[in-house]
Amino acid sequence: MTKELALSRRGLLIGATQAAAVFGLLRPSSAAETLPKMVVTRDPNCGCCGNWVEHVKAAGFPVEVVEVVDVGPLKLKLGVPDALASCHTAEIGGYVLEGHVPAQAIKRLFAERPKVTGLAVAGMPVGSPGMEVQGQPPDTYDVVVFSAGRQNVFARYRGLQQL
Ligand code: CU
Ligand code: CU
Repeated sequence: MTKELALSRRGLLIGATQAAAVFGLLRPSSAAETLPKMVVTRDPNCGCCGNWVEHVKAAGFPVEVVEVVDVGPLKLKLGVPDALASCHTAEIGGYVLEGHVPAQAIKRLFAERPKVTGLAVAGMPVGSPGMEVQGQPPDTYDVVVFSAGRQNVFARYRGLQQL
């Protein structure tokens, strides 16, 4: 009797462990597992793009880098408005990221999942991730959420700090 109980309890425990394993597969618990892979297209001669790649990697995004001489045609193909153009262009989970977008803003994009083309930081604001210049105070800049014919401020930053 006691033996039988012990056995059935063990069976329950094994069942629970298996269920947890399946549950874990379906719903990964660690942030790194849930962050989608990012493909960054950049000019190999542009240093700030490499610095931004380090920034998003440090935030846990898996990154693949594609080096091209001219990122312009890709920006056109992906619908990045001219006014929002920067250096590198990234594709991630159906979204486009243009320029020095802070990793924190990208994580918010995936938390909210709006129906938009993507996020952009136009130009090269000093102090945006990958554009830190020693001895220069960071600029205030906008992270713009864009779609065809539509642009809005998603967040405002100074350096890495959201305002
Ligand atoms: Cu840049
Ligand atoms: Cu660059």
